[in-house]
Amino acid sequence: MSRPWWQDAVIYQIYPRSFADSDGDGIGDLPGIIERLPYLRSLGVDALWISPFFRSPMVDFGYDISDHTAVDPIFGTDADAQALIDAAHAHGLRILVDIVLPHTSDQHPWFRDAAACRDAPTRDFYVWRDGHLDGGPPNNWAAGFPAGTSAWTWHAGTAQWYLHSHLPQEPDLDWSNPAVRAAQLDVVRFWLDRGVDGVRLDSINRLGKDPAYRDNVAGERSRQQDWPTLHAYLREVRALVDRYPDAVAVGEVWEFDQRRIVPYLAPDELHLAHNFVFARSRFDAAEIRRTVEEFTGMAGPGTWPAWFLGNHDEPRRVTRWSAPRDDDETREARGRLAAMLLLTLRGTPFLYQGEELGLPDTELPEGVGEDGNGRDPQRTPMPWAPPSTAGPGAGFTTGEPWLPVGGTAERLNVTTELQDPGSVLALYRTLLALRRARPSLRAGSQAFLDAPPDVLAYVRADGGERTLVILNFAATTRRIDIGTPALLLLVSTGDAACSGSPIVMGPFSGVVLEAVAS
Ligand code: GLC
Ligand code: MG
Repeated sequence: MSRPWWQDAVIYQIYPRSFADSDGDGIGDLPGIIERLPYLRSLGVDALWISPFFRSPMVDFGYDISDHTAVDPIFGTDADAQALIDAAHAHGLRILVDIVLPHTSDQHPWFRDAAACRDAPTRDFYVWRDGHLDGGPPNNWAAGFPAGTSAWTWHAGTAQWYLHSHLPQEPDLDWSNPAVRAAQLDVVRFWLDRGVDGVRLDSINRLGKDPAYRDNVAGERSRQQDWPTLHAYLREVRALVDRYPDAVAVGEVWEFDQRRIVPYLAPDELHLAHNFVFARSRFDAAEIRRTVEEFTGMAGPGTWPAWFLGNHDEPRRVTRWSAPRDDDETREARGRLAAMLLLTLRGTPFLYQGEELGLPDTELPEGVGEDGNGRDPQRTPMPWAPPSTAGPGAGFTTGEPWLPVGGTAERLNVTTELQDPGSVLALYRTLLALRRARPSLRAGSQAFLDAPPDVLAYVRADGGERTLVILNFAATTRRIDIGTPALLLLVSTGDAACSGSPIVMGPFSGVVLEAVAS
């Protein structure tokens, strides 16, 4: 049986607001993405996951959806969405849309109707409860953000509380209601019918909650997410996705214990899950190895790993994995190591726009920012060209960008890096090409080797092809004796030229080698 495409793919996340602006309003849009498809194609990724571009009041920048089947005018038109899907396909790129199943915007017609009166037909699409006897909210559940707030908001008009796992403007749908499931499955069907190649399912662990709405108890598992009832709902979603040959279902399983993530990867649920345990691991070879081995140990034979190091919610890797005293060069070296790790592990890698440029988080001036939950630094616009020639929009926009581009844009931008064979972008392109060229890096088995402290070493093997990866997470030189006689250097994160054993690895350096049979 041939492997499904998404096991061989590298998936690139586009945050449309910050990717490319075609009309000069300072906000990225769908025509902007279409213009940049040749760049993505030549970068060497296979599929694009596009964060929500649907109609939205934008309180949560598109994750608060008021019409899942219409394009928000900020991003373009319905025709632009179809044009993007078709143009991506013409470039050999697949498209995943980002669908939010567990909640809607409070401006969605379902919720507006539900809030109008208690006997509205969509009232029980959402979760309404009377207050606690003490007059407070029905239980002690907390909203995901703002941190420390209640998951319930009092609705004076109908004198009840409604539940929201995230912002008050994002009321939770009640997935135990079959009408909700049918309506949301229609949304998934709508986009699959339009020709997308898969869906990324936002906050999917929020589909199931304790049906008795009991209080959370400190030290016990949360009752407001990851409740076992959700797996039946997810199977309904998957059964629909399976009607479209080759379509993939990726889920955001916002859980921090891999034992809670793996069950979502049952053969009739998700194909792939974002793994926050891996994404949040420290810059630590031993911790990363433990995480990868723990996942592999728990995964069934059909379970395929997926790895990411950044997205629109998480601080950028280069920043999170650097130390406060790092100079630019050291920070960049750590970023290069991260790239080599992500693109050589067994599993589907997800890249977040700008990661391939080595972007750090943007330090925004005091008082500048849009997101109430501090996620602007990883959401600033993609720098396409140096501001000295392209102006303050850095090729992202001819107008005023909705958030300032990062202070590193003069050096870290697409145009400049494409001209420099030593750039971070050049390294990503090389690694992506290598992954395409070497079946062992995609489909191969993976075995970790004994290595000195702070060094991660593994062999990927497929048929007769063996690829060896060595990553030195230490700030000092490490020697590693591989015991393999003949090695050929395929890629190095720096200028290390190593051959023969022991291999001498400089600080924060990584290499990919071919083990040549002697
Ligand atoms: C997911 C999204 C995040 C959003 C939240 C609520 O975690 O990735 O950006 O704010 O869901 O929809
Ligand atoms: Mg625009």
